[in-house]
Amino acid sequence: MARRKIVAGNWKMNMTPSEAVKLVETLKPLVANDDVDVVFCVPAIDIIPVIEVAKGSNIQVGAENMYFEEKGAYTGEISPAMLTDVGVKYVVLGHSERREYFAETSETVNKKMLKAFEHGITPIMCCGESLEQREQGITMDWIRQQVKVGFLNVTAEQAKTAVIAYEPIWAIGTGKTATTEQAQEVCAGIRQCIAEIYDDATAAAIRIQYGGSVNAKTAPELFAQADIDGGLVGGASLKEEFGQIVNYK
Ligand code: 13P
Repeated sequence: MARRKIVAGNWKMNMTPSEAVKLVETLKPLVANDDVDVVFCVPAIDIIPVIEVAKGSNIQVGAENMYFEEKGAYTGEISPAMLTDVGVKYVVLGHSERREYFAETSETVNKKMLKAFEHGITPIMCCGESLEQREQGITMDWIRQQVKVGFLNVTAEQAKTAVIAYEPIWAIGTGKTATTEQAQEVCAGIRQCIAEIYDDATAAAIRIQYGGSVNAKTAPELFAQADIDGGLVGGASLKEEFGQIVNYK
């Protein structure tokens, strides 16, 4: 069965709630596409107004992070039940910015992955190498490690529903998209890694996105690759251009 494409916006720390409502009103008609899953991953405080204004559209709403405990004395954190209670379906986990600035590790990502599945939230687990790692020729070793630790104790049935976003750090926010060949090569390597952890059926089902300076020009060729099932889009998801990216064909 062909995998359904998934194009997600990652707003990062942008858009106040009132700006968010305006943006979604503008984007709603532009991102209409029944053939693609469209997800807006937004700051926690924007989740409720975005869900409200996105009602009746094809937009699904995701969070940008979540904690791995159920509840309690964890000041500043958001629990999985808080997300599902308002209708959140996806959560970005292990974004390189969280790994770099907020001490996220593959071990904490793994705990969050398990918690997300427990609550029926689909994780979009990010992985990706630095420029230094690419130049050292250890890209695939590094990413296989991130994937293997991230998926520890995740069952094959759960893994089949997951999304992995391959985001080379050097391509994020730099305007420097990986070449189609580079992106396809790593996404194929990730699928191979999933086949080794689980089996061919799980590898065939899991969806793998590319992220890193995706724009309306680069999306069509990237999303046409055999192992690239859509994109995780930062900067361009805050603009009308996101409509063109969703409707890349
Ligand atoms: P840009 O599309 O702005 O490069 O961001 C990519 C990203 O980090 C999405 O998670």
